Parts: sequence; C-alpha cells; structure tokens
Amino acid sequence: MGTPPAWTALDPRHLWHPYAPAPDSLPAHPIIGSEGVHLILADGRRLVDGMASWWCAIHGYRHPKMLQALHEQVDILPHVMFGGLTHEPAARLAERLAQISPGDLSRVFFCDSGSVSVEVALKLAVQYWQARGNPEKCRFLALRGGYHGDTFTAMSVSDPDNSLHHRFRSLLPQQYFTPRPPDAGCSASELEDACARFEADLVAHQFELAGVVLEPVLQGAGGFHHYPPAFLTQVSALCTRHDTLLIADEIATGFGRTGAMFACEHADVVPDIMCLGKALTGGMLSLAATLTREEIASVISKAGPFLHGPTFMANPTACRTALASLDLLESRNWKGEVAAIEGILQQELLPLQPAKGVAGVRAFGAFAVVETSEPVDVQAWQALALQHKVWLRPFQNFVYLMPPFIIQEPELMQLTGTIQAGVSELL
Ligand SMILES: Cc1ncc(COP(=O)(O)O)c(C=O)c1O
Repeated sequence: MGTPPAWTALDPRHLWHPYAPAPDSLPAHPIIGSEGVHLILADGRRLVDGMASWWCAIHGYRHPKMLQALHEQVDILPHVMFGGLTHEPAARLAERLAQISPGDLSRVFFCDSGSVSVEVALKLAVQYWQARGNPEKCRFLALRGGYHGDTFTAMSVSDPDNSLHHRFRSLLPQQYFTPRPPDAGCSASELEDACARFEADLVAHQFELAGVVLEPVLQGAGGFHHYPPAFLTQVSALCTRHDTLLIADEIATGFGRTGAMFACEHADVVPDIMCLGKALTGGMLSLAATLTREEIASVISKAGPFLHGPTFMANPTACRTALASLDLLESRNWKGEVAAIEGILQQELLPLQPAKGVAGVRAFGAFAVVETSEPVDVQAWQALALQHKVWLRPFQNFVYLMPPFIIQEPELMQLTGTIQAGVSELL
C-alpha cells in the first residue's frame, strides 16, 4: 500500500470531520482524485462511489463539460457580491429552474447550502404571513422521520427524536409534528387513516401555522422512507383548504434521483415554496436555491425587503456549473439511466429482506437502503467496502446507495454485491 502522504499527519491534528469527534475515531481515507464513478485513494486504489458524494455527483466526477464550464467562468468572473449587482449565470439559471420546476415557481433566491435554503424557505413563509397581517402564523408542521439540515431552524423541523438533533431540543424553536406517512405499498385504509390524522394535526394548529414542511415522497437521512405519492397529493389539497403554505424540500430528491425531475411530480403537486441543493451543480460546488411563486414574493415585497443575503449568494461559478449540469441532464436519457439503476437495485437488494439482522429493504429510483435491526459497525462496513473496491458510508441503521446516474451495470453490481456480502458477514 506504500507510505501515506506527509499531509495525512495534519488531519488528526487539525481537522474536524462531519458528525465526528476530533480527532475522528474512525479512519479518514486520503483521496487524491476522482474520475467518472471512481474515487482514487492516495495508495492508488480506485473505488466505485456508491454515495455520489452525499447524493450530488449525478454525472460522476470531472465530466469534461462540467470542467469546461467551471474553467470558463473562473476566468471571467469567479465570484462577486450579489447586492446591487447581477450576472448572466444567475439570471439564466433562475430562468432555467423556473422552466423545469413544477407549476409557476418563478422567483428564485440563491444561497450556499441546503440547510440555508430551508432557513430561507421558512423565513419566506413567516414574512408572507406577517405581510398578510397574520404574524401569529409563524410555526411549522413537519413529518416525523424528516431531515432538513443542521442549522437551528432546519433542525427544528427535522425529526425531533433523531439522534442527530435531539441534544439541541431545548434550544430549538417549537414546531409541530405529525406521524411519518405509511410506506409506499400500504393499503388504501392505511393511507386514508394517515391522511385523516394529518388533517386533524393541520386543523388543530392551523391558526399558528405558516407552513407544512416535508420531503416529497422519499424521506432522506431521517430514515429513508418512501411513502405513497397519494399522501402528498392529499397534503397539498389540505394545505390549500386550510390556508397553509406547502414547503417541499427537494434537496435530496431533486434533479432526477427518484425517477422524476422533482419528486413532487409523482404526486402532481406544485408546492408554494421549494428548496433545491445537492445535485443542483452536479456535485461540483456548493449552491442551493429556494423557489416560490410570484404572488408570494409580491405579498412579501409589498411589505418590505426579504431579510436574507448570504455573502456567497448566487456565486457565478456555481451558477454556471449548475447550468452545465442541467445541459448534461437534458442531453442524456437520465430517466432511462435511473430506471435501469432502479431495476438492478430492486433485483439485487430486495431479496435481502428476510436475512438475519435486516429490518427492511427499500429501493426507489437511483436509491436503495438496507435498514438494519441494530446500528451498523461503520468501521467494519467500510473495511469490507474497501476490500470490494467500493465506497460506502453507512450510518445509524442504514446501509444505503445513491450512485451517480452514469454508473454502468458491472460497477452497480460491485456495489450491490458488497452490500450482499456485508449482510451475510457483518449482520
Ligand atoms: C432533504 C435534505 N434537506 C436538507 C439537507 C441539508 O443540506 P446541506 O447539507 O447542503 O446543508 C439535506 C442534506 O442531506 C437533505 O437531505
């Protein structure tokens, strides 16, 4: 394997890794490059990436068209403040997002991470009701099992018992929660009961609610649950009936991951506010966006300015890269790619359902999870993954895959084969 590069000694001395103590109790593997669906470690090993860098590298790594867009923009205008200035990459990207997003979401606020786009969405909803003379409508109803980010208000609408956030509970704004919807494939009566329960929770708090916040159809890091689109359709109708805004967090689901460009499309729903991030730049740079309808923007704006403005708002290089990512999606048969991935994930992983230590298996779009009965031994799973020359990063009770859409069958089978081996050797 050779001697690790000298800089690796600096990591335990100075760095802090995500969701980890410092220094990290688990190894951090030195990586020096990436290409296509592969991550390249310092010792030369090439790993098939099953994580798409936390679900955003949908075109794999270093796609020539993405690199070209990035280099061109860096040479002209890498970054500039967005207050009092505007630029072509932001204007063109906003137009493009307005065109491809559901319904009439035509007003776009750019920021720099998914969590911040959720903060922006919640602030928009609060300012909207203030402008309409209902300042008491300032709380949110969220689904249990949701995850919306790590900033404080985003944490407050994420699952209240999830171990990522429960330590901060006493500091978080108080929100309301409604049960996690039943799994997709539930019976008609289970769906009916869930909708009735949702309506009861909505009606109980209606006069305090600025909005309902949810991840459409597929919940991500809060438990990876896939629920019936019909539930979302009903939720949307109930929000309209009871005068509450619907905020769709499409940060993980947006840009094709579930087989539709946006997961709201499965339920034929147009939210009032939509959050985008992760795959927006194809995994190249940090950029997020909050979209809303012109009518909501104009109600807020008649009462005064919207009170948010990040330093790196609408970074031109990130916007230009996002445009290149959308061009690439348009030029490829991404729906076919995602459908092919889904077929293989279902064929290879659903049979693990009865295995010892497996609590459930779900596969939907370019996503699959094996939920385990006990928390996984992350180090053991990662060691096994390296033996199989793949990159996995399980957490809590979830061993999951969100590969780049460009992955081919042999590499995908390498990923599913590793999970099959892990289930038989480690559970
Ligand atoms: C659905 C959802 N919302 C929000 C976030 C937070 O995004 P970020 O990590 O970019 O702040 C995530 C991240 O995993 C997410 O999956």
